[in-house]
Amino acid sequence: LTRTASEEMPHMSEDIIEAKVREICQELVLSPEVLKEVCDCLQEEINKGLAKDSHPEATVKCFPTYVRELPNGKEEGRFLALDLGGTNFRVLLIEFSSKCRMDSKIYAVPQPIMVGPGDGLFDHIAECLASFIKERNLGNELLPLGFTFSFPCKQEGLTKARLAQWTKGFKCEGVEGRDVVELLKQAIARRGDVQIKICAVLNDTTGTLMSCAWKNRNCRIGLIVGTGTNACYMEKLEKVELWDEVIDDPPQVVINTEWGAFGDNGCLDFVRTEYDNNIDSESVNPGKQLYEKMISGMYMGEIARQVLVRLVSEGLLFGGFASDILLEKGSFFTKYISEIESDKSGDFNNCRAILEELGFNDATDADCANVRHVCECVSRRAANLTAAGVSVLLNRIGEESVTVAVDGSVYRFHPHFHNLMVEQISQLVKPGIKFDLMLSEDGSGRGAALVAAVASRCAAMR
Ligand code: GLC
Repeated sequence: LTRTASEEMPHMSEDIIEAKVREICQELVLSPEVLKEVCDCLQEEINKGLAKDSHPEATVKCFPTYVRELPNGKEEGRFLALDLGGTNFRVLLIEFSSKCRMDSKIYAVPQPIMVGPGDGLFDHIAECLASFIKERNLGNELLPLGFTFSFPCKQEGLTKARLAQWTKGFKCEGVEGRDVVELLKQAIARRGDVQIKICAVLNDTTGTLMSCAWKNRNCRIGLIVGTGTNACYMEKLEKVELWDEVIDDPPQVVINTEWGAFGDNGCLDFVRTEYDNNIDSESVNPGKQLYEKMISGMYMGEIARQVLVRLVSEGLLFGGFASDILLEKGSFFTKYISEIESDKSGDFNNCRAILEELGFNDATDADCANVRHVCECVSRRAANLTAAGVSVLLNRIGEESVTVAVDGSVYRFHPHFHNLMVEQISQLVKPGIKFDLMLSEDGSGRGAALVAAVASRCAAMR
């Protein structure tokens, strides 16, 4: 262990230490007034994103998705889906009858491919797709395919999406500004051994919304709190100045807000901390996705680690000694936060096991309690900020009762995220609005197939 405190610390009682830890963490606690202000800012940024004149400069882009109908539960057929956007890449085969059956396979995206040339990424996707088709003997059918590509894209149609910029640690040369459906088609053509029909390209938030709307008529919002964070919602066309097509029926469209970029113009600086600044400056996309960096799973663990390191350096944790592992960037995984907060109160079993993994073999109960407090502050802040975002969308939609479809590892695995969000949204929505948050099963896969299915239903009706 290394002493990181700058000077010999005077002996402090556990109570004094606890009070000091709380004081330092206070910066991460957002008051109702501050959250209200965050809501007002986001509302303004969404308006900027949707309006023609301000859109080019807007940070919250609010891209229309061309998805205008929700599923009716009667979709049928077999579909392929591709899901790229988190830690893994998946190929899925989905079959709708009265039920939904699914078969899928996960493929790793090796780090060098995530930051290598774009062609390499699309060749990898095409290769995984080809091997899935071969393994499942699907070679002699021309299956419709939905492509969930979970990065900010300017959509120019249901099957045309130009990548605006990479997020979440991806950085492949030569893709920004290009249509990712075209790049996928080219990669498939380079191989020459696969026949497919790409029917839709969508964001994971849209997939999540569709997947939930398949059985739930009130669903209007899709939310992801996973590696990244983002939300989409059903908006009236009259409010989407950006919409260049005719305003026909149904007069609505799903808007992909890309709210992860909220704050990139400095408007969230009043809530950001030194930890947020550090995380941003050490990321592959400094200055970008600032709201996402305060919320999502890719960063949450690292925020907690930074706070812990600070506490050690002030002599408030582990007697002022840090382990080499704790001092390493990225060593405190986001899943640790969920695990530590899953300990029953008064017991520190998970916490202690994690601290041992990090090289602390004799943490005291007081250390454990303080580590847990840090985790709670970091995750509560994330839940409150997400709740602020959802409240803005609920208030915009203005309907009496709305279901929010949610997916993502943070929401799924954190023991209190759901409850924290519900509590906070209740404080922030207009009186009379009822809502519920519903876990959406596998939006990126099933949702992609549903967008493809709804697209073919609508085409058949025209
Ligand atoms: C990032 C992407 C966005 C995606 C979100 C959740 O914010 O830019 O498109 O929806 O992560 O995966």
